Amino acid sequence: MSLHRRPRRLRRDGLRELVAETRLAPSDLVAPVFVDATTDERVSIESMPGQERVPLDAVVDRVQEVRATGVETVILFGIPEAKDARGTRADATDGVVQRAIRAIDDATDVTVISDVCLCEYTDHGHCGILEAEARDAPRLTVDNDATLDRLASTAASHAAAGADIVAPSAMTDGMVGAIRERLDSSGYADVPILSYAAKYESAFYGPFRDAADGAPAFGDRRHYQMDPRNGDEALREVALDIEQGADAVMVKPALAYLDVVSAVDRAVDVPVAAYNVSGEYAMLHAASDRGWLDLDATALESLNAIRRAGADLIVTYFAERIAAQL
Ligand code: PBG
Repeated sequence: MSLHRRPRRLRRDGLRELVAETRLAPSDLVAPVFVDATTDERVSIESMPGQERVPLDAVVDRVQEVRATGVETVILFGIPEAKDARGTRADATDGVVQRAIRAIDDATDVTVISDVCLCEYTDHGHCGILEAEARDAPRLTVDNDATLDRLASTAASHAAAGADIVAPSAMTDGMVGAIRERLDSSGYADVPILSYAAKYESAFYGPFRDAADGAPAFGDRRHYQMDPRNGDEALREVALDIEQGADAVMVKPALAYLDVVSAVDRAVDVPVAAYNVSGEYAMLHAASDRGWLDLDATALESLNAIRRAGADLIVTYFAERIAAQL
């Protein structure tokens, strides 16, 4: 055999590392943290092994545990003490996330991203104000424009508390522009927006909805989250968000949408994030519990794949576990 090209030459130990195209570092990872105003103990989330809802007075400890693994950034989700139709607690100065941000800011050097959405704060579990609420109509769909002001004021309240980045995830048209305007006029022109620009209506969010107690009480999110069958539409979404001032854009979920991550990465010149969601986390755990998959290996392979597709940063419940391995 005279083979000139032998790709295997570069796969030898010692050379593999040298020619690796993808690098993954703890600083690329963002760990989700759930702060719960309804408990005074740390509560494990059954469908997300290793994840917890923590009370306010444990949030600094929780964040320091994350930091100790080398991960430098957390994204905060809040479970409020009370819910109502308008999600009143979402923008409260003494709201659970606002207080958590202040505590983390005072005690640590961790970068805090705050998730800006209403679904954890509304009693109906949808990501905005319902049309029925906004204008006495019988329609049980989210009123896009009536929701913008609530999101803007929620983002501003997070910025006021000291959030380093705000991350709107409500899939409301115009949310990035409305938030940018509010931040700028409230003295937070320096606070960046990481938009969940391409967020799909995905069944992979199941475990999160248990964790954050944010399942819609009726209906589904198809009238605002994206159809999983669409890819080009993601490019329209990210273009609109960048036009409105998004500093970085997110694709969510990650693993079933790597084509979208890759297309978005090629289309935009802002950082691209991908959210390795709760269902993607739960399925590897479930298979590994049965002895069917190696958890560390499949988690690392998943995160490398998300980076290879083009994500600059990854929001993942595996952040601590993988950072500790790197
Ligand atoms: C909504 C929000 C969701 C997630 C994060 N923020 C989900 C939803 O639409 O129910 C899901 C994250 C995950 O599944 O890990 N604000």
